[in-house]
Amino acid sequence: MEITITKAASPKPKPDDSNLGFGTLFTDHMFNMDYDPERGWHNPRIEPYGPITMDPSTMVLHYGQGVFEGLKAYHTTGGVIQLFRPQENMKRLNKSCRLLCIPEFDEAFMLKALKTLLQVERDWVPTAPETSLYIRPTILAMDPFLGVRASHTYRFFIILSPVGAYYAEGFNPIKIMVTKEHVRAVRGGVGEAKTLGNYAASLLAGDKAHQAGYTQVLWLDGVEQQYIEEVGSMNIFFMIDDELITPALNGSILPGITRDSVLALGKQWGLPVTERQITIDDVIRAHAAGRLQEIFGSGTAAVISPVGELCFGDQVFQIGDGKVGPMAQKLFDAITAIQYGKADDPMGWVEPV
Ligand code: COI
Repeated sequence: MEITITKAASPKPKPDDSNLGFGTLFTDHMFNMDYDPERGWHNPRIEPYGPITMDPSTMVLHYGQGVFEGLKAYHTTGGVIQLFRPQENMKRLNKSCRLLCIPEFDEAFMLKALKTLLQVERDWVPTAPETSLYIRPTILAMDPFLGVRASHTYRFFIILSPVGAYYAEGFNPIKIMVTKEHVRAVRGGVGEAKTLGNYAASLLAGDKAHQAGYTQVLWLDGVEQQYIEEVGSMNIFFMIDDELITPALNGSILPGITRDSVLALGKQWGLPVTERQITIDDVIRAHAAGRLQEIFGSGTAAVISPVGELCFGDQVFQIGDGKVGPMAQKLFDAITAIQYGKADDPMGWVEPV
């Protein structure tokens, strides 16, 4: 399939790289492609960034049949623009499609389409330290229909947003709240898909956490409400007795690509790295015994995000000395050095645009 390119008539002024925040600014162009049962995925095109016109009955608006991804393009000191493990995002997006009854796409073609879009928008990749161009591929159910079934037509789009840190705290430790009042996902559901409803399901608990002064919610499993799952916008890691532990993928946790990279680096460094069930009581006991060294999150948007305080019911636990822990720092440094082309890439994770 050939990708047609229509250039924007009046490009926007570029923002100040030193103060980007997250997810508020968008580039001049976007990628679009459509699906119908007769033609399959067709009409791939790069067009000026703009609204998507939808009938009010469009199925995604009613039933949430939509999936998305998040990855980033990095400006290296050598001037090359590169992606971090983009094939993994394409693979995960297709997996989300399968879980949401959305037709799969050709991953190699989509990577090519993404690179074409990034070449058009290369001047939008910010250069200030720790900034990047966040990439949001999204697929939405487009049938105008009110009955509940999988849509027959879809829109695939990719938008780009120059970003800095995801959390207002930057790389400073965040405070997270464990909830037993709400659940995000359950076994047999779509917790491991990057789908719209998983994020909608997190909002009420997130609001309550914010009101109590916490940045994010740490979710427990939806059945026993004991096993730690994830933090909604990132996966979670614990350093206990020098062992790096993260909850095993169980179908209701997002299989994070940064999570996988942390596990691979930990193993390469010879650390005991374990994917297993871990309960909130295990964590509290380890804290009480002085064995809990660090907690941090991992994600594309969040990168590595140290946790300085954990709240569970009426108990508040300071983690370590409340500052950035050495393992979080080491992983942040190692991952960002690879992403920004400042270190060797023995795992073959980066890919030039
Ligand atoms: C990402 O890390 O890319 C995500 O999609 C998380 C999102 C909540 C910003």
